[in-house]
Amino acid sequence: MRENSERPGQQGKRPSLRTFVFTALSYRKRAGMSAWLLHRFTGTALVLYLVAHIMGLRSLADPAAFEVYITTFRSPLFKIAEVMLLGSIAFHAFNGLRIMIQDMFYRSENQRRLFYGVFLLSVLVTLAGGLTLVFPYFIAPFLP
Ligand code: HEM
Repeated sequence: MRENSERPGQQGKRPSLRTFVFTALSYRKRAGMSAWLLHRFTGTALVLYLVAHIMGLRSLADPAAFEVYITTFRSPLFKIAEVMLLGSIAFHAFNGLRIMIQDMFYRSENQRRLFYGVFLLSVLVTLAGGLTLVFPYFIAPFLP
């Protein structure tokens, strides 16, 4: 990647947060930028979840604290968070494999289509897995 100093209009300057957000949003129609942003966002979300999860597991030593922890996992709100977690894992994993394959073995000319394929696959996996997660909480109680 080129240095900031080589970019027109940004000689020697780091872009401000406002410029970064504006640029990110104005790149909405570019699959490459969306892929990069989503990959970074899901990667960061997974790291944060992993840290929170490991901190939570410290309650294993205390049965009362563990009961509180595991009750959170059973709450309907957490099921929604689990579906989002599944979506993050699916997209990050599939897109990560796409990046690794194109970096190491085969650089396709049609990255846009590959990205849309990765996105669609992630949505399908999230819907299929998400349905089994939310079914007992949001669907089963309303069935006759
Ligand atoms: C199947 C599993 C995974 C695959 C195939 C994968 C693949 C990748 C690849 C290829 C990159 C580099 C992206 C690039 O060069 O632009 C990356 C970045 C990253 N991954 Fe993963 N990853 C996986 C799982 C995870 C997990 C479990 C976490 C967190 C707990 C994670 C966190 C991150 C983070 C924070 C980055 C940096 C994102 C950035 O700077 O844009 N990844 N991953």
